[in-house]
Amino acid sequence: MTEPLAALLAELEQFGQRNDAMTSDRPRRMLNITRDTGEFLAILVKATDARRILEIGTSNGYSTLWLASAARATGGSVTTVEWSELKLGMASANFARSGLAACISLVHDDAGQVLKRSPDAAFDLIFLDSERPEYPGWWPELKRVLRYGGLLVVDNATSHAEQMAPFIALVEADPQFTTSLVPVGNGEFLAVKAGRRP
Ligand SMILES: C[S@@+](CC[C@H](N)C(=O)[O-])C[C@H]1O[C@@H](n2cnc3c(N)ncnc32)[C@H](O)[C@@H]1O
Repeated sequence: MTEPLAALLAELEQFGQRNDAMTSDRPRRMLNITRDTGEFLAILVKATDARRILEIGTSNGYSTLWLASAARATGGSVTTVEWSELKLGMASANFARSGLAACISLVHDDAGQVLKRSPDAAFDLIFLDSERPEYPGWWPELKRVLRYGGLLVVDNATSHAEQMAPFIALVEADPQFTTSLVPVGNGEFLAVKAGRRP
């Protein structure tokens, strides 16, 4: 990782912590992943050689930068989806500063709509970090757009275990998926789709 990118990530960590401590208004909170989750995501992208990465829930782009820094190494790119105009503007400015903008496509839309219009098997890795009650409704599309052998990663599996339970139960009951709960950061739920990369 370059020094300017490391400095930007450190700046965003401080900003996110200070901002979220000051406001309880959810739309104004950054709700970023933890640093160790960022490191873990970068490892997952590199270890699986993921190139077509989808992130649902950009916020100001902190997690996107971890994904994109690894995507640059695999020759891939990240499509990241956010519906808040406020967050979109912040993310866009952070991507421009990061030197990673060429590896990032920022989509301003509702994630459910983006999933619906994405082709089958469009993504190697999906990182889901959005409104948890939506996840069970998105499951058929998430399954469809993840390629065979692809990896789904979901944040907040331990910090919001009760809210996540219906979604985790759905995925665990699906014979096409192998799952694991990893106690990194706020808890990462991992699910691999059976089959081989085409
Ligand atoms: C937990 S935050 C994402 C944090 C980000 N992944 C990070 O770690 O830096 C969730 C984000 O999802 C966005 N969001 C929630 N529901 C959405 C939807 N249906 N479509 C697009 N974005 C959505 C929210 O505006 C919020 O910025």
